[in-house]
Amino acid sequence: MAVAIIGGSGLDALPGIAASERARVDTPYGATSAPVQRGRLGEVEVLFLPRHGSDHAIAPHLINYRANVWALRHCGARCVVAVAAVGGISAPMLPGRLVVPSQVIDYTWGRAHSYRDGVAGPLEHVDFSTPYDPRLRSALLAAATATDVVVIDGGVYGATQGPRLESPAEIERMARDGCDVVGMTGMPEAALACELALPYVCCAVVVNRAAGRGDGPITAAVIAGHLGAGMTDVLRLLREALPTLARVDPAVAGTG
Ligand code: HPA
Repeated sequence: MAVAIIGGSGLDALPGIAASERARVDTPYGATSAPVQRGRLGEVEVLFLPRHGSDHAIAPHLINYRANVWALRHCGARCVVAVAAVGGISAPMLPGRLVVPSQVIDYTWGRAHSYRDGVAGPLEHVDFSTPYDPRLRSALLAAATATDVVVIDGGVYGATQGPRLESPAEIERMARDGCDVVGMTGMPEAALACELALPYVCCAVVVNRAAGRGDGPITAAVIAGHLGAGMTDVLRLLREALPTLARVDPAVAGTG
């Protein structure tokens, strides 16, 4: 079994992946964003899938989340680390910081978001109390201590529809709801992994202050200015955490 990494903005390819091969996976839900890449990072077998596609052309609401998560499971994923770029809402969520969220609120709509809806599979109301597996969260936080990468432990990820950014009023509402960061791809990905009993964690990089919380408009240059260094930190963290992640038993539910 392998540790699966889903790459987001700034991580459309996995640097340093050795002995890799790419496989197109036929899924009951259609095509994945890209072929699944299998290889090694250090000693650990990994699977890599860029959710926006290899050339970053798939918008957040058009990603085939069901195919992606199903394919990773089918290829032998024991767990999933989802890397994402986010906007910072609460005060500590400053550009350049890494965050390992502990909860999620879903504001997306119209996305194929379930395998257990009575159509794609039998109707089932899966428990979603711990959207992010505590064992995986602990592994990332321990890796942060070991590497001196600064990581914020916990926070609520608010998933919006995109592809446009939010209005300041939408961000105000999200802040009132308790959201700490905002991104466009965290759902339904986390819920689908949960439905497949695949331990899942998010490692987010804050690349801008959310709308109305910074100085002026959110430009591509602002985002790009924080994406590169942020993803370098994510990769350092991942390399350190991988041996621990590779021991997570998907048959045992993580609780916390
Ligand atoms: N909003 C939504 N998604 C994002 C943002 C944002 O401000 N920054 C990076 N992804």
